Amino acid sequence: MTDVISQPTTAQLDRPEPPSPYESCFSMPLSPAELRTHQERYLEIPTYRYGLPARLLFWAADKAFPQGRSFEFFAFVELVARVPYMAWEHVGHIAQTQNHRDHSFGRQIQDRVLLARDEQDNEFWHLLIMEEFLDASGYKRRLFFDRLFPQILSLIYYQLSWVLFVAKPQWSYRLNSDLEDHAMRQYACFVEEHPEFDEIEWQSNYRGDYGFHATVGDMLRQIAVDEEQHKNHSEDFIRRGARFSRASG
Ligand SMILES: [Fe+2]
Ligand SMILES: [Fe+2]
Repeated sequence: MTDVISQPTTAQLDRPEPPSPYESCFSMPLSPAELRTHQERYLEIPTYRYGLPARLLFWAADKAFPQGRSFEFFAFVELVARVPYMAWEHVGHIAQTQNHRDHSFGRQIQDRVLLARDEQDNEFWHLLIMEEFLDASGYKRRLFFDRLFPQILSLIYYQLSWVLFVAKPQWSYRLNSDLEDHAMRQYACFVEEHPEFDEIEWQSNYRGDYGFHATVGDMLRQIAVDEEQHKNHSEDFIRRGARFSRASG
């Protein structure tokens, strides 16, 4: 008896179509003219009264960084800014585990998980860029306010984002929206206060990760635009119903 080994057809030898790649919301840098338009808009948007948790956080930040807007202040902001996205990714995974038999619902939740990861990554590039400025300037990091305090606050903020999401997701998104609004304005003001940033070429190890902005001013304006996007995503979730739902994801 002879073994019959079927030969693969040409179609079987071809590689199949790859999965659709996730397209980051932050992959397309804006032009210098677009960035300036956004910055001017941020400087003109009327301020509003933030919620109590956000005001407490800003109060603590003011105590830790009395010098105000500076690269060390923004390094702190960016370290803390990643935290709610980590918490939301976590609650998304828990919701998927609890609903693992409902495949389409799990898939809908995955879209929020992917967005939370995308936002975390974007904040992480912001953080590395700020840390790079601190290294270049020779800034001496203080043990408590630059090292311990941001980590302690991040721990508290993570738990708060998590608990608020479980209790009432709108509250968690509202807190983040307040923080992102504040960050957006702070970056816009920082560039306004330092016109010399438009004369300084932006040299960085992270241009390939973040975008090839020509000047420090444009890079900072782009970060302000990113912060607005983060804010808008939270606002979108508040509008369309913040809790995971089979109707709206
Ligand atoms: Fe950021
Ligand atoms: Fe942000």
